[in-house]
Amino acid sequence: MYIYKAGVVGAGAMGAEIAQVISFSGLPVVLKDVDQARIDLGLETIRKIYQRRVDRGKMTQDELENKLALVTGATSYDAFKDVDLVVEAVPEKLDLKQQIFRDLDKAAPESAILASNTSSLLISALGGVTKRPHKVVGMHFFYPAHIMKLVEVVPGLDTAEETVGDVIGFAESLRKLPIRVNECPGFLVNRILMPYLNEAAYCVQESPVSPRQIDEALVAFGFPMGPFTLVDNLGFDVCREVVNVLQAAYGERMQPAAIWERLYERQRFGVKSGAGFYLYGDRAGQADRELEEILKSLRGSSKAPNGFSPHRVVLPMINEAIRCLEEDVCSAADVDLAVIAGLGFPQSKGGILHYADEVGLDKVLTELQAFVLRHGSRFWPSPLLKRHVAAGHLGRAAKKGFFDYTAG
Ligand SMILES: NC(=O)c1ccc[n+]([C@@H]2O[C@H](COP(=O)([O-])OP(=O)(O)OC[C@H]3O[C@@H](n4cnc5c(N)ncnc54)[C@H](O)[C@@H]3O)[C@@H](O)[C@H]2O)c1
Repeated sequence: MYIYKAGVVGAGAMGAEIAQVISFSGLPVVLKDVDQARIDLGLETIRKIYQRRVDRGKMTQDELENKLALVTGATSYDAFKDVDLVVEAVPEKLDLKQQIFRDLDKAAPESAILASNTSSLLISALGGVTKRPHKVVGMHFFYPAHIMKLVEVVPGLDTAEETVGDVIGFAESLRKLPIRVNECPGFLVNRILMPYLNEAAYCVQESPVSPRQIDEALVAFGFPMGPFTLVDNLGFDVCREVVNVLQAAYGERMQPAAIWERLYERQRFGVKSGAGFYLYGDRAGQADRELEEILKSLRGSSKAPNGFSPHRVVLPMINEAIRCLEEDVCSAADVDLAVIAGLGFPQSKGGILHYADEVGLDKVLTELQAFVLRHGSRFWPSPLLKRHVAAGHLGRAAKKGFFDYTAG
């Protein structure tokens, strides 16, 4: 199916970026929000993204105006009568999204695809309120969408294969990297990311290691930024919703570290609120008494030695990625593509499963078992990892692991 015109519902942080990406590909796009003021804010965001391209000499002012002219603001669904695809990007509330899908089902042509940018809600729960569940699909962009290449394409239970193919084609036409992710709570990237962020938080709250020391160690490992800088940039209020969904779905192994709630109570959401694991704005670089107090109360009188190592935070990611393979959420190659494009996992390591193969799956298993004894059952190794080890598929050295190395 060819997409001639698209719609975006919600002109906030994600919706405006998505509308910019669509207009950049040359397609007309209608951007809907609840009132003109919010639409204007969205249009302003889009103009700023284009303006930066003009300032860097990548686009002329005329080209900017032409691209901007492709975006039309709307406060009603009248302008959705001839759209071929809609991306919904309203706040992460099931009732609200279901209402939008009912409205879109009435407003958009019968043939139109209805996609949701939800980070954590089930696509099946959105498709289920429409008369076209075969045309409803997840199209999960990452922030900032005008830079991040990855798009998770998530079919619900009733989504047609044709719809998945059409959305993958559409994402490619936007110069994105789509991967197909079978529906599960957190999809792929957030599901792998959260155990990593969470374990880093356990490390600081349990032992005398600072967020900065951990961030530096993971930058040395090859990440573009450490977990605490990342969470401060993502916004902890946003991460918290995802963490809650993951914990509700997967239980104990996603139990959030207590420090998250302490920061949340104090409205320390990260860069946007001026404080998170670090201080920002006028207070940047100053001594952070509040964080010291929080850490002191969590560590109590514990004399635990520094319990951090890069593998303590990377192995939970690997373990969760293997669980995704086990559940057929996506292929091993797509896991590696997703962690590089979506999480900044070091490209030089070939992705998280290539890295596990490189380390040796028997060693990964032994390390996880040691972490279980030291830190608890959230490190419990996935059955598929044990099967690989039992079969002698130990990774690169054995020429077979999650990938086959016989040709190399
Ligand atoms: N922010 C992120 O980093 C991020 C990343 C990936 C996915 N997401 C997902 O994208 C979605 C949107 O998140 P966001 O951060 O852009 O939220 P946001 O709060 O910045 O923007 C949401 C917009 O939707 C508008 N809206 C609310 N009700 C509406 C309605 N009935 N009709 C039209 N517009 C309406 C709001 O006015 C607001 O402008 C969520 O599902 C979120 O989980 C967010």
